[in-house]
Amino acid sequence: MSVAVLVVAFGAGLFAYARKPAIGPVQPPHRSAFDQALIEKGAVLASVGNCTSCHTRPGDRSFAGGLAVPTPFGTIYSTNITPDPETGIGRWSQAAFTRAMREGVDRAGNHLYPAFPYDHFTLVSDKDNGALYAYLMTRQPVNRRPRANELPFPLNVRLVLAGWKLLFFDKGAYRDVASQSAEWNRGAYLVNGLGHCGACHTPRNRLGAEKKGSHLAGGEAEGWAAFALDAGSPAPVPWTHDSLFAYLRQGWHADHGVANGPMGEVTGNLGRLPDADISAMATYVVSRMGEPAPQRVAKAREIRTKLSTDAGAIPIPVSAKAETPTGRGAVIFQAACATCHDGSRPQPFGGLDFHLSSTVNAPSPQNAINTVLFGLPAASGRQSAIMPGFAATLRDDQVTDLLAYLREAFAGQPAWPDAADRLAATRGGKYPVSVRPSDGIERGPANVGAQDK
Ligand code: HEC
Ligand code: HEC
Ligand code: HEC
Repeated sequence: MSVAVLVVAFGAGLFAYARKPAIGPVQPPHRSAFDQALIEKGAVLASVGNCTSCHTRPGDRSFAGGLAVPTPFGTIYSTNITPDPETGIGRWSQAAFTRAMREGVDRAGNHLYPAFPYDHFTLVSDKDNGALYAYLMTRQPVNRRPRANELPFPLNVRLVLAGWKLLFFDKGAYRDVASQSAEWNRGAYLVNGLGHCGACHTPRNRLGAEKKGSHLAGGEAEGWAAFALDAGSPAPVPWTHDSLFAYLRQGWHADHGVANGPMGEVTGNLGRLPDADISAMATYVVSRMGEPAPQRVAKAREIRTKLSTDAGAIPIPVSAKAETPTGRGAVIFQAACATCHDGSRPQPFGGLDFHLSSTVNAPSPQNAINTVLFGLPAASGRQSAIMPGFAATLRDDQVTDLLAYLREAFAGQPAWPDAADRLAATRGGKYPVSVRPSDGIERGPANVGAQDK
């Protein structure tokens, strides 16, 4: 077959695939049409799916949209998903809503951008979509048109998305893997579906799609590295079912520290999910990580011994002569960090001993840079892990010296080669970093919807 024939065939296929019918409008359903228990279930699910934060501008009306979702291609604004009949989804039937979740198509038949993570939400069951629909349709309607997306031609043409879907999108509700337990399947359903963990934890290709063979192999989000959750996990003490359960349940674990940046919000959002579901997620994630290699287990044992015998000792590697970067970094560490990070104060409010830190052991310096520059802001109204930011007090060369020291003293590895470049780019705003209280609990689901009752 000639290339021309192929192109024509592809184009014709695409055109057929690209056309989606509109689904007729309905009268906005009345609150009494929905069972209260279903609405409450939908509230929990909306929180797990992070619908609230992505469709709400901070401090603004819930679900009214307009939050800018930056992508490498341009800015996409989340839509109004309140039941307003004109500007929201008030005229959407449940079938139209389920189609949006399953196929990424709006009621009128337009393709939606995958900034709305329907590549994960496609797995959500009809039943759970019913609960989400019940919850959203019983929110306060807000009459506000979403802002237009800022995308260059041809990406601003929605038809292009038909091609993207053809290449990268696997449509269909979750199907149990028969060889796995019910608990594992429940975990896979939540992690890969509503939880859309891979949206941050899986690397993406140049067209913004998650790389197929690299599921949960480590990605990025909002200026942070989202660490690998597979065999490549940088955690010095390998994760177990129980430590994952605790971290996802409470936002921290003594062997791993506190969930920072966007992950703080994720753990807050899981807050009202029952323990059994969190446990299922841990079962699935730990299976993705697999049995840790013997060297990792040995290394972890070594770290534990070190922590129990020289608690509070500040490691000075041999290379840390006064005139080397590690030497200068060691001095800064002692002056600025050691009081909190000598490991003598318990998690989550004391700083982690960096022998345990995924951040210091990770292949990218990004999260260490973010934490050093911006610190951890206090959560309002309750105790949280707090760290001051050093953006104003440490010069760039001091930060890179400090990072070289952390890397060598606590991870036993050479300095990150890209630390200086990433530091400059982060200071210059090239990686806009979302700085959040690391304790997500106060934005947890108990508060979701509080302002729109
Ligand atoms: C990472 C951010 C993000 C998350 C999380 C998210 N959305 Fe969205 N959503 C968007 C964006 C951005 C759009 C607009 C896409 C476009 O313009 O094509 C959108 C579009 C939609 C639409 C289409 C609305 C319309 O008028 O066309 C629906 C319905 C929707 N989202 C529902 C949900 C639900 C339900 C959840 C939670 C289960 C959710 N979204 C979670 C970002 C998000
Ligand atoms: C919005 C992006 C985002 C989403 C969605 C997300 N994560 Fe994360 N995750 C991150 C970031 C960023 C970090 C690094 C946090 C830090 O530096 O403390 C992280 C860290 C983690 C860690 C700690 C890894 C380590 O070695 O320290 C675990 C475990 C984890 N995430 C599990 C999950 C699971 C399970 C889900 C789905 C329920 C999920 N994440 C969803 C961004 C995300
Ligand atoms: C006032 C106490 C305090 C000071 C001073 C402080 N930190 Fe922290 N830091 C914390 C707390 C609390 C956390 C959150 C708990 C945790 O995960 O370690 C944290 C977290 C971190 C993390 C994330 C660790 C992980 O893997 O989860 C890094 C990296 C970090 N700090 C680096 C530094 C560096 C470098 C300095 C010195 C320039 C410093 N901190 C000074 C309190 C402090």
